[in-house]
Amino acid sequence: MRARSGLPLTLALSAAAVVGYASGIELRAFQIRRVDVPVLPMGARPFTILHLSDVHLTPNQHDKQRWIRELALLRPDLVVNTGDNLGHAAAVPAMMHALEPLLRLPGVFVWGSNDYFGPQPKNPVRYLLPHQGKRGSGPPLPWRDLRTGMISAGWRDATHARFRLRVRDLDIEVAGVDDPHLQQDRYPLVAGPVDPAADLTLGVTHSPEPRVLDAFAADGFRLLLAGHTHGGQLRVPGYGALVTNCGLDVGRARGLSRWGPGGDPAWLHVSAGLGTSPYAPIRFACPPEASLLTLLPRTAPG
Ligand SMILES: [Fe+2]
Repeated sequence: MRARSGLPLTLALSAAAVVGYASGIELRAFQIRRVDVPVLPMGARPFTILHLSDVHLTPNQHDKQRWIRELALLRPDLVVNTGDNLGHAAAVPAMMHALEPLLRLPGVFVWGSNDYFGPQPKNPVRYLLPHQGKRGSGPPLPWRDLRTGMISAGWRDATHARFRLRVRDLDIEVAGVDDPHLQQDRYPLVAGPVDPAADLTLGVTHSPEPRVLDAFAADGFRLLLAGHTHGGQLRVPGYGALVTNCGLDVGRARGLSRWGPGGDPAWLHVSAGLGTSPYAPIRFACPPEASLLTLLPRTAPG
């Protein structure tokens, strides 16, 4: 049979090239997002936070492990890990290996759904559908082993916890919730106005659900860190994300924005993360990332 036109073949080849790039090259194009956030007291020295999220690690992802280890060369003052570390039931040793240089630094973490439950096969198209609330869950993952490793190294679990950290010369008030994507967030467990004497107030959540961000902002937390969105994962060049996989608007799918009412809202930073589900191994116009936040003094009294 004769080909009817060269156009369908051209389109098919173009689509195949895009999919090949998105699943083969971009997945490994790890990048560092550098962001300045004027959130410290006036006169404070700059303070750096390495924001890690959504690693979704499998044991055979050696290049990703190497890249994460090298992040320690950035010498951040604090590491914040907003969850979804695991993409495989046997990934805890690999994740501990990847984190090992960073575990020598102060750290804080919360959990995501992909720490508690393993990935499940699903139609990748579902990722582009509107958020449908609580999702199904795969087999349990050994997140407790990862927790033991991180806690043993000195990192603090902020899941439904509120505590103070003294890092360098900063007094930091931290609060976190369990994963809102699984509807496991219980904000009243950590609720209450921030201490105005703290130099930095940090709210941490895996999924940036507006109800949680609103609660942190209402209590006066000034810097909110989250992951989960994968930056939209498949972005349209010149347009941006199509979905966030949660209640957050697509304009905030990754990067820095302001959150809350009033003339001086909180700062929200959403990490596009470093991975994907093993069953949706594709990113487009949204390279995997870790973020280096440089906190700077406010330019006006806060
Ligand atoms: Fe994730």
